[in-house]
Amino acid sequence: MVKLSLVYFIAGLAIATPETRHCRCRPHEECWPAHQEWSRLNDTIHGNLVAIRPVASVCHEPEFDGSACKAVTENWHDSLWRAAQPGAVQWENWESWAEHNETCYIESEKDTKCSQGRVSLYSAKVQTAEHIQKAVAFARTHNLRLAIRNSGHDYLGRSTAPESLQIFTNGMKNITFVDNFVPAGAPRGKSEGHAVTMGACVHLAELYQAAGETNRTVQGGASHTVGAAGGYIQAGGHSPFGARGGLASDNALEFEVVTANGTLVIANEYQNTDLFWALRGGGGGTFGVVVNVTVRTLPEAPVIVANLNLTTSLGHDQFWDAVSEYHGALPELNDAGGSGYYFGFPILPVNSTTEISAMTSFLLFAGYTNTSAVDDLYAPLRSKLRKLPGVTVQYGTFPLPSVNSTLQNKWAGEGGDATGGVAAVISRLYSKDLLTSKDGPSRLVKAWRNLRYGPGDSFRGHAVGGGAVAANGKKIDSAVNPAWRKTITHLVISRAWEANATVERQHAIIENATNVEIPLIRSVEGEDQMGSYGNEAHPYEPGFQRSFWGDNYPRLYQIKQRWDPEGLFIARLGVGSEDWDDAGLCLKR
Ligand SMILES: Cc1cc2nc3c(=O)[nH]c(=O)nc-3n(C[C@H](O)[C@H](O)[C@H](O)COP(=O)(O)OP(=O)(O)OC[C@H]3O[C@@H](n4cnc5c(N)ncnc54)[C@H](O)[C@@H]3O)c2cc1C
Ligand SMILES: *[C@@H]1O[C@H](CO)[C@@H](O)[C@H](O)[C@H]1NC(C)=O
Ligand SMILES: *[C@@H]1O[C@H](CO)[C@@H](O)[C@H](O)[C@H]1NC(C)=O
Ligand SMILES: *[C@@H]1O[C@H](CO)[C@@H](O)[C@H](O)[C@H]1NC(C)=O
Ligand SMILES: *[C@@H]1O[C@H](CO)[C@@H](O)[C@H](O)[C@H]1NC(C)=O
Ligand SMILES: *[C@@H]1O[C@H](CO)[C@@H](O)[C@H](O)[C@H]1NC(C)=O
Ligand SMILES: *[C@@H]1O[C@H](CO)[C@@H](O)[C@H](O)[C@H]1NC(C)=O
Ligand SMILES: *[C@@H]1O[C@H](CO)[C@@H](O)[C@H](O)[C@H]1NC(C)=O
Ligand SMILES: *[C@@H]1O[C@H](CO)[C@@H](O)[C@H](O)[C@H]1NC(C)=O
Ligand SMILES: *[C@@H]1O[C@H](CO)[C@@H](O)[C@H](O)[C@H]1NC(C)=O
Ligand SMILES: *[C@@H]1O[C@H](CO)[C@@H](O)[C@H](O)[C@H]1NC(C)=O
Ligand SMILES: *[C@@H]1O[C@H](CO)[C@@H](O)[C@H](O)[C@H]1NC(C)=O
Ligand SMILES: *[C@@H]1O[C@H](CO)[C@@H](O)[C@H](O)[C@H]1NC(C)=O
Repeated sequence: MVKLSLVYFIAGLAIATPETRHCRCRPHEECWPAHQEWSRLNDTIHGNLVAIRPVASVCHEPEFDGSACKAVTENWHDSLWRAAQPGAVQWENWESWAEHNETCYIESEKDTKCSQGRVSLYSAKVQTAEHIQKAVAFARTHNLRLAIRNSGHDYLGRSTAPESLQIFTNGMKNITFVDNFVPAGAPRGKSEGHAVTMGACVHLAELYQAAGETNRTVQGGASHTVGAAGGYIQAGGHSPFGARGGLASDNALEFEVVTANGTLVIANEYQNTDLFWALRGGGGGTFGVVVNVTVRTLPEAPVIVANLNLTTSLGHDQFWDAVSEYHGALPELNDAGGSGYYFGFPILPVNSTTEISAMTSFLLFAGYTNTSAVDDLYAPLRSKLRKLPGVTVQYGTFPLPSVNSTLQNKWAGEGGDATGGVAAVISRLYSKDLLTSKDGPSRLVKAWRNLRYGPGDSFRGHAVGGGAVAANGKKIDSAVNPAWRKTITHLVISRAWEANATVERQHAIIENATNVEIPLIRSVEGEDQMGSYGNEAHPYEPGFQRSFWGDNYPRLYQIKQRWDPEGLFIARLGVGSEDWDDAGLCLKR
């Protein structure tokens, strides 16, 4: 036996070629493309190649530039500005490479060195599918680490990669509505009806604005700058109108994709069906570069917004009892078509001397015009809450004329999202079965009550499942986490650190999140039940394959091997990423 394994070992050495077989080519190595080769790539993509530095580099010596630094400082929290900078993403922790002490924080001293971190070295600011094909071919030929960068919102570090070439989709913003969409390859006359095709970098707010003019709606999330065709829809995409329209990916009809071998393919129900299955929930940055997506649109509808606020004195037991009653009422509100968000603040400072506990909820009822009908739905909950001494309840319903006006007024109007800091979250999907079981709501609340909260910290409830999300599970076979079909609420809490936190402190927070807090929120329904939403999950989620994709993982892994056998598209915690190191630079075996 010993001899045999020695033979294998030697044979292994014999076939192993230099590091480049197992690792991506890195800038200090001979394999790195020469200047002329980069220039040639630049020519083939019509001068759209740029060498990049982290955006805060102009605030540090020796690159310091007072007026440029002032502009960066002023724009630091503006997601629209960030979306347009190849040297930035939305969260500064993913611009840095903490494990290698490579950071370029605006908060650090002027004479602190600005390191490249996870920001790519070159950016291909692609405008067309052909540009994408050239950039993919170049990365493949030269064995480069490749990053696909859309809005840069990703919470798991999937849109940056150290020492990489970046495909920057920001120029691809075409939006085209059609009345009768016929997927390529569909039988003659097989129309999917009204649909919209959007380029890779269309932001949700841009999509809503365009849709508003057509008297149709598109199923999407609550953000201005999140990319409708990017990581959002490719990992599922939840919406405050989930009960009505399902997940964003449930509405996808066709993707045009540049695959790892540089071919432009169409994936839909009639061709490349495995890719179509994977792109609806399998996660961004993994199967190819999506050039554009076509999604079904839905008719306009009036909306009633129901707002419920709960407050108690600080840390009152009745606060948690009220939160539990609220969760117990969610299944019925959801069955009646309600979906939306709620935010709980166990320690909420109201002024310099007083703190209270509070929760505020906004559920949307599409298709309703009669506020009394919605009031009736809330009557049982309000009556239960009235019986809890010490709980103050505020409740109101507001009719809005359309889905368009709800999205544009409430969440995705003028301006952008507030980003720029450090982001890290933990989250969990919870089922309708849990919330309809006798002690389910109180077990859920007990777990979330045991998390640490500082003043102003909140748990964020996304009551975005149920209704069409559940019903679509019977009609649509896609890669999306099967747990979504049973989900009513997706609960999230931030577990970030300060920009100047030491690596040790970051590790301590990450350790506690993965070893203590995630097990706690997972234990409510058991480790193998449910899971979490890959787009809003912890960047070190334990067992991410099962957590993000459940039983769909083995098939996703196979599809990944078929379309990208060499692992050109590797995203942190993406399908197949377990074969690579955290930076996606070297194969583990
Ligand atoms: C303020 C805010 C609000 C949010 N609201 C919601 C919400 O309401 N509902 C919801 O479901 N999620 C929401 N999210 C989470 C969001 O879905 C994720 O952050 C998602 O990763 C964003 O995708 P993106 O393409 O915009 O970002 P990026 O960070 O640019 O990309 C994310 C991932 O997708 C890949 N990718 C991007 N474009 C392409 C492409 N063309 N082809 C292939 N891969 C690509 C990237 O490589 C990366 O792996 C929100 C996030 C934030 C910060
Ligand atoms: C690519 O070409 C453009 C236009 O000629 C030029 O401005 C740019 O600096 C070039 N990029 C690189 C990396 O050389
Ligand atoms: C990290 O970098 C900072 C600033 O460049 C330096 O002061 C510090 O000693 C470095 N730490 C480690 C562990 O290398
Ligand atoms: C989608 O992308 C393909 C490939 O670039 C292009 O041919 C097609 O015109 C695009 N469709 C729309 C509606 O933008
Ligand atoms: C958008 O796509 C459509 C369909 O492919 C095309 O006719 C149109 O010219 C494109 N518009 C822009 C601004 O690229
Ligand atoms: C690209 O890969 C796909 C999927 O493996 C394959 O069908 C196609 O023939 C390949 N094209 C080229 C040009 O290699
Ligand atoms: C908009 O769509 C709604 C729902 O389909 C319909 O009732 C209404 O008449 C339409 N309005 C216009 C101006 O077409
Ligand atoms: C703070 O708020 C509490 C509760 O609303 C109020 O009773 C108190 O007077 C306020 N204190 C100050 C200093 O404003
Ligand atoms: C509105 O709903 C209330 C309560 O369900 C009902 O009594 C009333 O008739 C409804 N009004 C209209 C105009 O439908
Ligand atoms: C609930 O609280 C929010 C935030 O304080 C407030 O804007 C809203 O008016 C309150 N709702 C009701 C019904 O009082
Ligand atoms: C959509 O909503 C926005 C914001 O309320 C409004 O300005 C616009 O007129 C609406 N569009 C339509 C067609 O109602
Ligand atoms: C770990 O997390 C729990 C729950 O949030 C918290 O109570 C505890 O203080 C944390 N421990 C450390 C060392 O951060
Ligand atoms: C981080 O910055 C805050 C102020 O923003 C300061 O109070 C704290 O001491 C700093 N921590 C470290 C480790 O430098």
